Amino acid sequence: NDVSRLRTDLLSWYDLHARTLPWRRAPGKKSTVDPYAVWLSEVMLQQTTVPHAQPYFETFLKRWPTVQDLAQADDGEVMAAWAGLGYYSRARNLLKGARMVVSQYQGGFPDDEISLLKIPSFGPYTAAAVAAFAFDKPANVVDGNIERIMSRIYAVDESMPAAKPKLKALAAQWVSEDRAADWPQALMDLASGVCRPKSPKCGECPLSEGCLAYELDQAERYPVRLAK
Ligand code: ADE
Repeated sequence: NDVSRLRTDLLSWYDLHARTLPWRRAPGKKSTVDPYAVWLSEVMLQQTTVPHAQPYFETFLKRWPTVQDLAQADDGEVMAAWAGLGYYSRARNLLKGARMVVSQYQGGFPDDEISLLKIPSFGPYTAAAVAAFAFDKPANVVDGNIERIMSRIYAVDESMPAAKPKLKALAAQWVSEDRAADWPQALMDLASGVCRPKSPKCGECPLSEGCLAYELDQAERYPVRLAK
């Protein structure tokens, strides 16, 4: 069907255009990545951009290379290292989370979303992201970027944020066991380089043939936001 063909097209595009990011496995690689590193990156990326988060990510991993190291860290030192990222509550929850992973799981992150959700600092997005990126599970990872892609493919006219549940259900139709970790990363890279909020480059998009917003020549109108 259309979804599986377009899915293959986007994954082929990703093989050529994937961004190289320090918390990510290379496209098509089965090798697992460290769930601690994925978790750290996702918590940082919830409040800032990839270029801004990258040096913080590297500093944290150098100073606290494992979740055991972070669990034993001095709170004040972690807060100081977090300065510039904002929202100290995130850093506090990160520490709580690290301590729970060590006390309850002997330092090994669980690989399912239900268990991950019980760890401080995890929400539905983070749990799906760690399950997919670190453990190659077919989790429905949906952030604002992936919402934008779905709103365009399906020309969803319901406005944000009310459309969120619908967009999440649409994204779920694309999730598969095949290349489970690569799939959401391919969507994120498409969202950042091609399916951009302003001036999307539909001429370069591997999904344009299946995109209703493109067909209507209205990609930029989606996701629909009510005028303030
Ligand atoms: N934004 C949030 N998570 C990301 C990731 N893993 N890669 C790129 N951008 C992201």
